[in-house]
Amino acid sequence: MRKPFVAGNWKMNTNGQTSVQLAKRIAAGSAETAGHGVTVAVCPPFVYLQAVTKALSSSSIAVGAQDMYFEPDGAFTGEISSSMLKDTGCTYCLCGHSERRHVIGETDELINKKVAAAISGGLLPILCVGELLSERQASKTNEVVTRQLKQGLAGLSAEKLSAVTIAYEPVRAIGTGVTATPEQAQEAHDFIRTLVGRMYDGRAAEEIRILYGGSVKPGNAAELMGCKDIDGLLVGGASLKADDFLAIIQAAV
Ligand code: 13P
Repeated sequence: MRKPFVAGNWKMNTNGQTSVQLAKRIAAGSAETAGHGVTVAVCPPFVYLQAVTKALSSSSIAVGAQDMYFEPDGAFTGEISSSMLKDTGCTYCLCGHSERRHVIGETDELINKKVAAAISGGLLPILCVGELLSERQASKTNEVVTRQLKQGLAGLSAEKLSAVTIAYEPVRAIGTGVTATPEQAQEAHDFIRTLVGRMYDGRAAEEIRILYGGSVKPGNAAELMGCKDIDGLLVGGASLKADDFLAIIQAAV
C-alpha cells in the first residue's frame, strides 16, 4: 500500500516571520493526521529551512528543499549541497521542478545528477516531470514524460529508486487555476507507473509514489486523490494558505 503524500512547494514566497507562522499553523492543524495516514512535507525557500525545521521539530511534518546542486562542495557560487540541506534538517528535495526546467533552463542531464546526488547524500528526491501546453497540443505528453523519466532516473538502481517520489505536473496547470481533469491526470499517472514497470519491474511500479501537481485546491483535492494512480499532491499556491493546505491534507487521508 502506498501511503498518501502531500507536499507544499512554497516557491519564492514567505519571509522570516511568515514562513515560521505558516509552518506552525500547518503543524497545529494536522497534528492528528500528518505522519499517520498521510506523509506531509513543506518546501520553504533555502534561507528559511532552518527556522521552519525548528518550528516543526515536535511535529511529524517533514521539510524539503526546492532544489540543490549535485557537487558535494567547492567553488559553486550561490549553490547548495545535499549535506548542507541535511544539516538544516531536510528530508526531501524537489529535483527538476518545471520552473527550474523552463525558467532557469535546467536540462534532464543536470536533473539526473541532482537526483543521484540527493540519494547519495541521504535525501529523498521528488523528481518533477510534465509537459508544456504546446507539447500536449502536439500529442507529445507521453514522449516528453518518457524522456524526462528515462533521463532523470538514468543510472539509478532499483534499490535507489525506492528513495524517489515522482511528481507529475502538467506545466499548463501550474499557477493557472486550470487543473488537469482527473481523467487526464490518471491517464498520465498510469502511463508513468507502467513506464517505471518497464524500466525496473512490477514491484518498483507498485511501490513508487506519484504525486499530481498543478492548481490543486481544497475543492479538487479529493477527486484527484480518488484516482487509482494518484498517490499524493504537490501543492503550490494553496500551500501558502494554512487553511487550504490543511483541507488538502485532510482530503488525502
Ligand atoms: P500551483 O499549485 O500554484 O499551480 O503550483 C503547482 C506547483 O508547481 C507545485 O510544485
